[in-house]
Amino acid sequence: MTLTIGIDVGGTKVAGGVVDEHGNVLASNRRPTPADDPAGTRDTIVEVAAELIAQYPQATAIGIGAAAWIDATGSTVLFAPNLAWRDEPLRDYVGKATGLPTVLENDANVAAWAEFRFGVARHADSMVMITVGTGIGGAIVINGGLWRGANGIAAELGHIQSVPDGHPCGCGRLGCLEQYASGNALVRFGRAAARQEPERAAQLLALAGGDPLAITGRQITEAARAGDGVAMDAFAQVGYWLGVALADLAQSLDPQMMVIGGGVIDAGPLLMGPIERAYRDQLANRNRFPVAEVHAARMGNAAGVAGAADLARRA
Ligand code: BGC
Ligand code: NA
Ligand code: ZN
Repeated sequence: MTLTIGIDVGGTKVAGGVVDEHGNVLASNRRPTPADDPAGTRDTIVEVAAELIAQYPQATAIGIGAAAWIDATGSTVLFAPNLAWRDEPLRDYVGKATGLPTVLENDANVAAWAEFRFGVARHADSMVMITVGTGIGGAIVINGGLWRGANGIAAELGHIQSVPDGHPCGCGRLGCLEQYASGNALVRFGRAAARQEPERAAQLLALAGGDPLAITGRQITEAARAGDGVAMDAFAQVGYWLGVALADLAQSLDPQMMVIGGGVIDAGPLLMGPIERAYRDQLANRNRFPVAEVHAARMGNAAGVAGAADLARRA
């Protein structure tokens, strides 16, 4: 049995795991991401890997999934809208520091790979995935492989435009999907509505100690489950924009399956319902042709680690 290490690098945490060939995570660890400090982030990745190697010296390779744009050769972080990383030769740094062959991939790509190999899309041969977290990530799997594009940055689906001249995005553009359908957008919608309609937001405000600015994503999920109108609306807005984007993607790629992942899907039907409605509603020629079904991801938190480790095994 070969074991490989997967490391998922996001804006808040660096999570690592030792993974077998079936995608089972045998050991895991995590550290906070020093998000403003690229050198510190790099060293945190090495520390997380070293701890796992000490536990499982037989591990043969490392896969890193990072919330960033990766170059075509899979060696360099080019840019990260929500992290301070710029032009960082991360793959070789981690490879040298740990002594293990290392692969570097985008975080949404590795999560999609995990769903495709082991999760909800394991019987599909093409899929599009959108991950909803701090930011919005995207991935396209075609003919059994990740589509990385000519320059490595294919499927940056968080940065397709939803609203012309809309909110400024970390990528430099205006009105990106990420500004309307991410976890951050959910919080922004919830806070704004709670300020405007405090009575409808009674349950949500109670969870946040009465302060609209203290509202968190988790509280919006909890309040929406309890029937809070403002919290449910926040999910409906996020779901609407995701559904519109999925309809465009179905039109352009016609994949077998659409998958929505990331922490926000814990809200279940509160999010998936509005997504499904907007998707069906926005498709051109709706109901006249077969079209990809939309599914929630199944791998949960383990997706990044399992997907990165599997890519490392195959490299
Ligand atoms: C970045 C992507 C990343 C996504 C999720 C986006 O802002 O552009 O590269 O996959 O956030 O972390
Ligand atoms: Na991607
Ligand atoms: Zn953007």
